[in-house]
Amino acid sequence: MLKGKNILLGVTGGIAAYKMADVASLLVKQGADVHVVMTENASKFITAETFQVLTKNKVYVDVFDENTDDYVNVPHISLGTSADCVLIAPATADVIGKIANGIADDMVTTTVLPARCPILIAPSMNVYMLENPIVQDNIEKLMRFGYIIVEPDNGHLACGYDGKGKLPQPEVLVEHVIHAAAKEKDLTGKKVLVDAGPTQESLDPVRYITNHSSGKMGYAVARVAAMRGAEVTLVSGPTNLPAPIGVDVINVTTAEEMYNAMVSNSKDSDIIVMSAAVADYTPEVTADNKIKKKDGEGMNIPLKRTKDILKSLGEIKKENQIIVGFSMETENLIENSRKKLESKNADMICANSLKTEGAGYQVDTNIVTMITKNDMEELPLMSKNEVADKILDKVVSLK
Ligand code: CTP
Repeated sequence: MLKGKNILLGVTGGIAAYKMADVASLLVKQGADVHVVMTENASKFITAETFQVLTKNKVYVDVFDENTDDYVNVPHISLGTSADCVLIAPATADVIGKIANGIADDMVTTTVLPARCPILIAPSMNVYMLENPIVQDNIEKLMRFGYIIVEPDNGHLACGYDGKGKLPQPEVLVEHVIHAAAKEKDLTGKKVLVDAGPTQESLDPVRYITNHSSGKMGYAVARVAAMRGAEVTLVSGPTNLPAPIGVDVINVTTAEEMYNAMVSNSKDSDIIVMSAAVADYTPEVTADNKIKKKDGEGMNIPLKRTKDILKSLGEIKKENQIIVGFSMETENLIENSRKKLESKNADMICANSLKTEGAGYQVDTNIVTMITKNDMEELPLMSKNEVADKILDKVVSLK
């Protein structure tokens, strides 16, 4: 997701510096051109050579050892100004204090000062150091100036204390960089509402009716919309997926709860994408106690219809609002999906067949045909993130 992006890592002297080798490597795998600057103290925890091998770029530690014959592109200026995103991790109390006060006296602080891109700072230190009001004041000051603070994790700290101050795992740090740098922010100012995942309809305190939806498609739409700058609300049925960065997640269980959350959040949404696999039926009654089996008898469960959320939102659709639905079929994909476009007053239906390999529930890929009133576009097999991007591109073109 970071192909062609220039990512600058600033590593300072905390024990968690060792995790930055993984961060550098994961960023390279995402296609980024990764540059690293370090403080002298950081080089006591991890060597510049490690990063050089992983990134294939020269690593700078000493401002006076830039060792360049190129006096036009002085590294501590050119590295900062050419970055698409800077991540300072682990960020010690010292580097936070220096940046917050405009001090530039080492390779990290001098390189960050001229940077004009999103700058992420991941504080990592002892819990009491982090709680110190002076450190907190510096963090708040950085936030006021637009720096993005990556919240430290809670847990057992290397210093022996338990509490907040752990550097998040490399995958989480990389996800923050992706969120900040992967996409153009063409949805800034737009409100996007997404539903995702299955619903669960209880028969009794033990059992429920549900389906195989993993929520991956809807989470991808929410994640990519947030990367593109939108203000995103995700109404999610029960899934095992982590909340995408910068997305407001409302967790629901039943179709009824999903309906209520979607209707109340729909009014000021510019774009609504409905990828949830909402139960069409729910038990007429939910037993208070566990239903006991009876020998020699089959069982019938009376069901009643749930509300069709997409149809309901289609009926109260605001002017300029774009509503996208999904259609999961096992036969007559295009014909059935076209019917849904009309009957539900949607602007687009993303049709996917459960019978095609690589498409549908649980998997990370999908094959989608985007159907609008005027045209139809069949996308090839792609990752759900790529599908999400294409759907949002289409939505932007419809507006
Ligand atoms: N949908 C919804 N509320 C429901 C059922 C479906 O909002 N109670 C939405 C889904 O989120 C999806 C679209 O309607 O965006 C189509 O869902 P799908 O399950 O493919 O079709 P149904 O409308 O349920 O029709 P059928 O069961 O006949 O295929």
